[in-house]
Amino acid sequence: MDLKNRLSEIAETASTEFANTHSMEELETLRVTYLGKKGKLTQVLKGMKDLSAEERPVIGQLGNKVRDEITSQLSEKKALLEKAALDKRLSEETIDVTLPGVKPKKGQGHVITQIMEEIEDLFLGMGYQIVEGNEVEEDYYNFERVNLPKNHPARDMQDTFYITNEVLMRTHTSPVQARALETHDFSKGPLKMISPGKVYRRDTDDATHSHQFHQIEGLVIDKHITMADLKGALEALAKKMFGEDREIRLRPSYFPFTEPSVEVDVSCFKCGGAGCSVCKQTGWIEILGAGMTHPEVLRMSGVDPEVYGGFAFGMGPDRIAMLKYGVEDIRNFYLNDQRFLEQFKVKG
Ligand code: PHE
Repeated sequence: MDLKNRLSEIAETASTEFANTHSMEELETLRVTYLGKKGKLTQVLKGMKDLSAEERPVIGQLGNKVRDEITSQLSEKKALLEKAALDKRLSEETIDVTLPGVKPKKGQGHVITQIMEEIEDLFLGMGYQIVEGNEVEEDYYNFERVNLPKNHPARDMQDTFYITNEVLMRTHTSPVQARALETHDFSKGPLKMISPGKVYRRDTDDATHSHQFHQIEGLVIDKHITMADLKGALEALAKKMFGEDREIRLRPSYFPFTEPSVEVDVSCFKCGGAGCSVCKQTGWIEILGAGMTHPEVLRMSGVDPEVYGGFAFGMGPDRIAMLKYGVEDIRNFYLNDQRFLEQFKVKG
C-alpha cells in the first residue's frame, strides 16, 4: 500500500477510534499510538525518505494535514472528557440543603458555677461588689480576725488542711470580711460585697460533706444598717433562687463573728410549706447562716463599731444546687461525669 493510502487510512481509523474513546487513559494511549515517537503516523513519515522528489512534498503536505487533524480531534475529545468529568462531579457532590445539620456540641459552665453566677448577678444588681479571697489563707485571717482566737472551741467544727502551723486551706469565706474591712475606705461610702469561692474542711466525704466545697460570703457595713436590711437582702436571694412565692424565717443561732446570729430558712419550694420529703415535713429548708457583724470583728479591722455596723451572711452554693435540682449526693458535683453535668442548664 502506498503512503498516500496509508495516511488516509490512519486518518480514518483515528477519527473512529477517538469517537469511541470514553476515558482520559484511553485517549492518552491513542495519542501515543498515533503521534508518539513510534506511532503510526511517525512510521509512515519516516518512509518519506525513499520517495521521489515529486512525491515527497505531496506526501509531506498530506502527512501534516493528517497530523493536524489528529491533534485537533485529540484536543476536542480531551475538552469533552474533561467537561463530562466535571459535570459528573458536580452532580454527585450537590449539597442537599434540606438534610438536618450536625449540631455542634455546646458547652456550659459547671452547675455550681452557674448557680454562683446567678447569685452574683443578683447582688451586683443590688449594688454589691465582688471581692476575691485567698484559698490558701493565714490562720490569723481565717480564725483570729473573725473572732475565733486560738483554742476557741468553735474552731473544732472547722478543722482543715494545714500548709504550715499558721497557713491553711481556708475553712470558710469569712476571712474575706476581715481583708475587705481593713482595705475599704469608708469615707468613700459603705462596704457592700460578696465573695464566692472554694473552701476546705477535714470532713470525711459522704453524701452531704465534701473536703472541698463552695461558699458565698456577704458583708454590708455602713451607718444605720439594721436586721431588716439583712432580711430584705436574703428574701431577694430566696425568691431569686427558689421562686417568687418564697418566704424566709430567721432562727437564733451562734457564730463567733456575728451577734445576734441566725440560721435562715426558706419556705419549701416543693410543697409550699405544707410538709414533704424535701423539707422533712417541716415546711422549711435551712439555706444559710447570717447575723449582725460582731463589734469585735470591726474593731480588729480598725473600723469603729460605735459608728459603723452591718450584717454578714454565708451560704453554700453546693447545697443550694442540691436542693434546687434534687441532687442527693454532693460528690456528684466533683466527679466530672459529663452525663451528670450536662443535665444542668440554668440559663437556657
Ligand atoms: N462562715 C460561716 C460558716 O462557714 C457562715 C457565716 C458567714 C455565718 C457569715 C454568718 C455570717 O459556717
